[in-house]
Amino acid sequence: MDHFVYRGGILHAEDVALTDIAATVGTPFYCYSAATLTRHYHLFTEALSPLPNLVCFAIKSLSNVAVLKLLGDLGAGMDVVSGGEYRRAKAAGVPGNRIVFSGVGKTREEMRLALEGGIRQFNVESEPELRALSEVATSMGVVAPITIRVNPDVDAKTHEKIATGKKENKFGIPIGRAPAVYAEAARLPGLDVVGIDVHIGSQLTDLEPFEQAFLKVADLTRQLRSEGHNIRRLDLGGGLGIPYTRSNDAPPLPMDYGALIKRTVGDLGCEVEIEPGRLISGNSGILVSQVIYVKNGEGRDFLIVDSAMNDLVRPSMYGAHHDIVPVIEGPVGSPTQPFDVVGPVCETGDTFAKERDLPLLTEGDLIAFRSAGAYGAVMASEYNTRPLIPEVLVKGDHFAVIRARPSFDEIISRDTIPAWL
Ligand code: LLP
Repeated sequence: MDHFVYRGGILHAEDVALTDIAATVGTPFYCYSAATLTRHYHLFTEALSPLPNLVCFAIKSLSNVAVLKLLGDLGAGMDVVSGGEYRRAKAAGVPGNRIVFSGVGKTREEMRLALEGGIRQFNVESEPELRALSEVATSMGVVAPITIRVNPDVDAKTHEKIATGKKENKFGIPIGRAPAVYAEAARLPGLDVVGIDVHIGSQLTDLEPFEQAFLKVADLTRQLRSEGHNIRRLDLGGGLGIPYTRSNDAPPLPMDYGALIKRTVGDLGCEVEIEPGRLISGNSGILVSQVIYVKNGEGRDFLIVDSAMNDLVRPSMYGAHHDIVPVIEGPVGSPTQPFDVVGPVCETGDTFAKERDLPLLTEGDLIAFRSAGAYGAVMASEYNTRPLIPEVLVKGDHFAVIRARPSFDEIISRDTIPAWL
């Protein structure tokens, strides 16, 4: 459920008409609903209750500092994967003891940054990283809390580009090697081994791969404890999928996912962390765009809109589906026709949808791409020197621009012409 609904024939974000935002901000823009973000965060805290838990928002999915502040103020932790994301979490006022640091390529500089600013734990992904972190922490005279990310070799049954839990993927250490790596971690100075981490992929629409992975983590917990490790925290990653269409085959609910967690690892007495991104942010955001031209091609009609693959790359990168709806709804029973919805970028891959049945839209009409809150704005680029588009946050009847559209001067002035040229 989200808070983007039609009222009086106009699509609203909570109590604000998107036509009003478009008139003030211009198109295209991303728009997020505070009520939806809040609701989705609480679905997880409720699903995990009464287990001791921390829901760490995967800020790679949506990293605007205003959104992070909203979630941080509700008590959320943050899952970061770079020094930049760590800085964003801190800028949003999230304390270090609620920030977990994931990722396969943490640099020594990033380790130092997090150890100085405070960190709940590093999720270590390899032996070289383990040794580097030990060196960095020791040189600073501090102890780094860590989990080790294990790769359970399960098939997440999702898009191959976002599956992470198979042995051929670059993530984590093979679960069979975990005892040896934990033994090394326990010997190294400057490290405090607090738990185990696992994350098998994103947009999972079936609980079964999670179950396989969590059962393996539960077994490993028992084994490592018997070998003397004080495993007290389990980070179970993110990955629960969202409905991208309004069809019947909806992915499992957070409540069912929570029940699975309790069933598989609930009796271990561990604090449970999860790292959901998409489920919190995905349906909390839309991308609003305007039709520039309707072009009648050979056997098909193109809706050329003012957003493009540089603004929302998911359709061209993963073949992802985003529902497209008109901001102003026609009367019930209005005719529709198939359109190819494309952006102005100069490549054929800049296509949002092919032969999508839509109302008879025309120049100047506003449309909204649904489910664009996750991996939308964060993956945008300035390809074709198209400015990053603004982000707007709505709460009740308030809205604010939380990232402004840059001017062309700002964009161009970042380049420098060498004196010798
Ligand atoms: N934790 C770790 C270690 C991750 O790598 C990810 C996502 C998450 C948590 C959050 O997963 P989520 O709950 O959002 O599924 N750009 C792609 C998705 C990439 C996901 C990367 N890792 C897309 O647009 O579908």
